[in-house]
Amino acid sequence: MLKNDLVLRAAKGEEVERSPVWLMRQAGRILPEYRATRARAANFVEFVKNPELSAEVTIQPVDILGVDAAIVFSDILVIPEAMGLPYKMIESKGPWFENTLKTKADVDALRVAEVGDLEYVMKALQLSKKGLDNRVPLIGFSGASWTLLAYMVEGSGSKTFSKAKQFLYTQPELAHQTLQKITDSIIHYLKGQVSAGADMLQIFDSWAGVLSEPMYYEFSLKYIAQICDAISPLVPITVFAKDAHYALQKIAETSCNTIGLDWTIDPHQARMQTKGKTLQGNADPCLLYASDEKIVLETEAMLKAFGKQRYICNLGHGLYPDLDKEKVKLFVNTVKNFKG
Ligand code: CP3
Repeated sequence: MLKNDLVLRAAKGEEVERSPVWLMRQAGRILPEYRATRARAANFVEFVKNPELSAEVTIQPVDILGVDAAIVFSDILVIPEAMGLPYKMIESKGPWFENTLKTKADVDALRVAEVGDLEYVMKALQLSKKGLDNRVPLIGFSGASWTLLAYMVEGSGSKTFSKAKQFLYTQPELAHQTLQKITDSIIHYLKGQVSAGADMLQIFDSWAGVLSEPMYYEFSLKYIAQICDAISPLVPITVFAKDAHYALQKIAETSCNTIGLDWTIDPHQARMQTKGKTLQGNADPCLLYASDEKIVLETEAMLKAFGKQRYICNLGHGLYPDLDKEKVKLFVNTVKNFKG
């Protein structure tokens, strides 16, 4: 039995005494403790593959920041790797893939990932669950099929993801074949995470915003809907599609429980378009560069706008590495102390 199940109750639409809070990228470089643990691994990929180190940094934000949930420390790029495209994380640049998808032969060579390929993540979840000792729920995650395809075709981060979009425009059938292989891999992976102890799951569609509305429905949301149908009977699932404000209504038609919002979306507008769903978000991470007074004022205004029920407080995207830990704590405490 969980001692604090606020996030889980909010996701299920059950009543809560106060709105819960956690932060995307809470296990990360804003914590000196994270940086110390990371230094014990040879590089980022080895760090992700080490279940003991992963569990350690998964639990740190619960102890240090007092958040209401832990999110397993891993990366969305473990799926491309399990399918046959290994990655590197280049310091202060981001992900980099030696091989990318270009032709049908490349796609045919991709394997559909099975849980056994990602045993290290399952182990990290089991160790995190044990270390958390039921204090708060444990969140598992995956990238969305489109966002993963974007990295697998582009081979790195990009402002436009034009190579990945070129793939959709010039080889749509092959793109669909690839997206289905990725989707099948994600479903195996997320079911494995539930068996390993994840109390809820989140899909990160970080590059939703580079697609047009019709392209988004055809090449991304269709596959997210498949994932939600496979997972929502097991545990609550959140869809975070960054910069896809135009798609809120359609996202709400999937079987997801919670919809993650970035900071460009007005809470009242979002409520109107997503009846029956829990909302999560959506403070601008840059708010945490502001004065203490401003942080408290804006956070309280956001809490009022969303209302106490069916709401999980978070940022509109991940924490930036140069944010001050004390400002982050102030944000968390403002939510926890709010009497609205
Ligand atoms: O605390 C948490 O949120 C859990 C851990 C987590 C990480 N990556 C750890 C990480 C999660 C949920 C992710 C997801 C992820 N990874 C996404 C989707 C969310 C988003 O931000 O939109 C994406 C697009 C990736 C791919 C990725 N991983 C990029 C682009 C980068 C480099 C960016 C950077 O900040 O340097 C990473 C690296 C990464 N993943 C870090 C962390 C803590 C920083 C790397 C480090 O420690 O040096």
